[in-house]
Amino acid sequence: MAESRVNYAERIGSDLHLELSGPGSKRAALIGALREAVRSGRLAPGTRLPPYRSLAADLGVARNTVADAYAELVAEGWLTARQGSGTHVAERARPLHTAVPPKAPAQPPRARAPRLGRAAGHDLRQGTPDASSFPRSAWLASYRRALHQAPNEVFGPGDPAGRPELRAALAVYLARARGVRTEPNRIVICSGFAHALRLLFESGSGSGSGGGGDGPILRGPLAVEAYGLPFHRELLAAEGVRTVPLSLDEHGARVDRLARERAVLLTPAHQFPTGGPLHAERRAAVVDWARARGAVVLEDDYDGEFRYDRKPVGALQSLDPERVILIGSVSKSLSPAVRLGWMVLPERYVGGVLAAKGEREAWASVLDQLALADLIVSGAYDRHVRRMRQRYRGRRDRLVAALAERAPHIEVSGVAAGLHAVLRLPPGTERSAVQAAVRQGVALDGLAEFRHPDTDMPAHDGLVVGYATPSEHAYAAALEALCGALPPGRTQAT
Ligand SMILES: Cc1ncc(COP(=O)(O)O)c(C=O)c1O
Repeated sequence: MAESRVNYAERIGSDLHLELSGPGSKRAALIGALREAVRSGRLAPGTRLPPYRSLAADLGVARNTVADAYAELVAEGWLTARQGSGTHVAERARPLHTAVPPKAPAQPPRARAPRLGRAAGHDLRQGTPDASSFPRSAWLASYRRALHQAPNEVFGPGDPAGRPELRAALAVYLARARGVRTEPNRIVICSGFAHALRLLFESGSGSGSGGGGDGPILRGPLAVEAYGLPFHRELLAAEGVRTVPLSLDEHGARVDRLARERAVLLTPAHQFPTGGPLHAERRAAVVDWARARGAVVLEDDYDGEFRYDRKPVGALQSLDPERVILIGSVSKSLSPAVRLGWMVLPERYVGGVLAAKGEREAWASVLDQLALADLIVSGAYDRHVRRMRQRYRGRRDRLVAALAERAPHIEVSGVAAGLHAVLRLPPGTERSAVQAAVRQGVALDGLAEFRHPDTDMPAHDGLVVGYATPSEHAYAAALEALCGALPPGRTQAT
């Protein structure tokens, strides 16, 4: 029993973002990538590396390749290995850090009515993770530990930057799992992506371009992807920010069309909702644009943890931490009910964001912050994410298999990552397909729901199918109902 638990923990491992490139052997590429991660400080001294087996499985290389690479780096002094306690980044491999002294600290707008209310037995709307899989025991254990260990000052007013424990844990986690380059005093805790957008764009409470006056921290016009979350566009419009749609093609957003905007909001790891990653050349191009224009890129890293293929897509932020603001939250990885997120900021915006938050933490519960810090540091967050990745991958595979059997004429896209897929439909059929789904008791959205009203890119008909929300036992019936609602292929038509 104890043995099998150990094996499971070994297999489940932890996440480590590494890109193996170059013409040489996989072993050489892995050694190079690990060495670089340690040298640059992305992997902090003391960080425990994933077990051979789990990293090998993640990267699609042989177990021995990982073992050899670790051994080589132990010999070089970058790593240390001790029998029984795994492989760690050596303490002496400490990188140089530029400390960023945080500057002095200085209404929630209307809430949108929940998009519920459709009489549907099967919820295949995108947006929420599997609620039945919330790691209740692990969260409880972390909360208990956090409460026991918390000094009394925790129960006073909270620091708007967020608890140092959480910022430190996130700096290490985001560097390891998402390739982010940062340090704790450039991270500001917030209640999620929507809150971060408000903080950055709300008029009247910022410090003006990170400087130190009135007005918002960032101003429009803001370029956004032509398909995106309407809630975010509405939130920006409520702040008086004009959004300018960027067309999408098979490589993601057409960043070559960026012009006089002051900022751009992208979902580079997994375009929301159409699915693909932003092409490497465009990642570089958008950062070049931001540098040339003195503009800023907002990276919405909403589901970056959930990639199912072996092509890692790290954070765009790593290309230029002074030009990219990365925003993430636990809304997909744990639950949108937790309301915890983070902003990884260029130095010049830290003071302005703290000023916008006010003198005391007013949104993100300090106790929840401590619990999340414990969840991350104890490894339970990694284990949960990896377990859920396996589960969602299984659901994705079942969706693809059901469609291949029951509706082979329907193309599925955007399935390499995330918690939803897009079913491409023949032109002009989307609305009737959504209605047919409703008749089958299936709640889902058509692509048109996400389209920017001002875009001139050709419309694509499609259904956005969230496969995370139904609980495990309800999923098969949901798939059955979905397939029953899809328009017939030509050969099936009468
Ligand atoms: C595109 C996109 N961005 C961000 C988020 C996260 O939003 P929040 O952190 O405000 O819950 C979501 C939903 O989870 C989303 O679909």
